[in-house]
Amino acid sequence: MRSIAIGLLGAGNVGCGVLRLLEDNAEAIAARIGARVVVKHVLLRHPGARRAFDIPASAKVTDAQTVLDDPDVRVIVEVMGGLEPARGYVMQALAHRKHVVSANKALLGTHGKELFAEATRRGVTIHFEAAVAGGIPILRTLREGLASDRILGITGIINGTSNFVLDAMTRTGASYADAVQAAQEAGFAEADPTMDVSGVDAAQKLALLALVAFGLRVDPTAIPTEGITRVEPVDVQSAAALGCVIRSIAHAELVDGRRLRARVHPVLVPTLHVLAGVYGSYNAVLVNSAALGRSLYYGRGAGMMPTGTAVVSDLVEVCRSVVAFADRGPPPEALGTIADVVPISNGDERHENYLRVRVPNVPGVLAAVAGCLGRHGVSIKRLYQDPRGPELPVDMVLVTEAIEDVRLRGALAEIDALETTLVPTMRLRLLPPEPLDG
Ligand SMILES: NC(=O)c1ccc[n+]([C@@H]2O[C@H](COP(=O)([O-])OP(=O)(O)OC[C@H]3O[C@@H](n4cnc5c(N)ncnc54)[C@H](OP(=O)(O)O)[C@@H]3O)[C@@H](O)[C@H]2O)c1
Repeated sequence: MRSIAIGLLGAGNVGCGVLRLLEDNAEAIAARIGARVVVKHVLLRHPGARRAFDIPASAKVTDAQTVLDDPDVRVIVEVMGGLEPARGYVMQALAHRKHVVSANKALLGTHGKELFAEATRRGVTIHFEAAVAGGIPILRTLREGLASDRILGITGIINGTSNFVLDAMTRTGASYADAVQAAQEAGFAEADPTMDVSGVDAAQKLALLALVAFGLRVDPTAIPTEGITRVEPVDVQSAAALGCVIRSIAHAELVDGRRLRARVHPVLVPTLHVLAGVYGSYNAVLVNSAALGRSLYYGRGAGMMPTGTAVVSDLVEVCRSVVAFADRGPPPEALGTIADVVPISNGDERHENYLRVRVPNVPGVLAAVAGCLGRHGVSIKRLYQDPRGPELPVDMVLVTEAIEDVRLRGALAEIDALETTLVPTMRLRLLPPEPLDG
């Protein structure tokens, strides 16, 4: 049987999972490809460090050029993370007509345009299943499983850290800070969790989902993004009283068949909604497509072996095309025609909203807040107060009737300008309930 040489850039968490799977499933993988995968080089920063997979000394290298300039190497697997030098290495690999498999959403979100253009120019492909929702094969599902259908919208829980934190706050009543610490202790949050809890990581993944689902390329920094850092126990308790849990979702949809609406933010999810049942660090992606309707994809969004499976599945696909096209030229471009877009404004979107207004315990505050809402045409559907004691501030919790975003924002600006509003008002959209009978 012939063999295909690959080079691994990095062998940390994900890279060791890749090596483990390639070793444990070597025979099955070779049978699926029609060739053996040989890991010829593994680029490392600290070749002497102990790791989860015992890498043969002959494969370890510290000079990237050894991997990138080797004409035997047909596929580069980039699992080192970060923007530089990863971007430069991937560009060099593509320039040498090597296929690339990457797990790096930050790299593809930031430099995707340049990298995909280079891949197309060189007649090679970039696969990135592991960059979105870890082990869930969502990109392959969108690209192939639903190739016969038209994707209309995607709503996902695609940041496991945020979901772990919100779920821990719901289950244990913990504060945000304590829940983050629990996530760190359980290995589900980085020492600096900013990228995750700010929503930036989810926006990067959402941009990749939109690219594959709709053929629309959006700069992740242009996606309206709110993190979970302002969620307090009072919000979690109030959500429960309303029959909801708080989840951080990433949403993208096609408007008029060609415009993109996208946003990342925490939301109140009714407990009967399928996304309310996504616990801990799990991910889920709910896809709405024209013919199939709604379909749900659920699984581990991170971790050595789940993410490793996504990388190795990409590798199998790429190696199959290397075998199939070896003598007949390059494989076809996987993504089709791509249009660059800016997401449309979300101002006209109508939602019911949860508002938590923190005010002093004095007469007249409710009337002032209600006045602000009324002037912008926002009707109150439900209202209650969370009294903390006579001397302490009060959390006034309101649910609005469905209202255009732009009008709600006008009302919130007025509410937050009131002398009696003690902290910026917490606003969370309410996700409409799922029709249970489909
Ligand atoms: N961890 C997950 O669950 C997960 C899930 C989905 C996607 N991803 C993505 O997968 C990628 C890798 O994540 P990870 O968790 O595996 O990271 P990691 O554990 O920090 O591993 C990074 C590896 O790359 C090597 N490396 C980094 N910079 C290097 C440089 N300049 N030169 C040579 N080697 C370098 C490191 O070498 P040394 O070990 O010698 O220092 C290490 O082996 C990231 O893009 C991440 O976003 C991760």
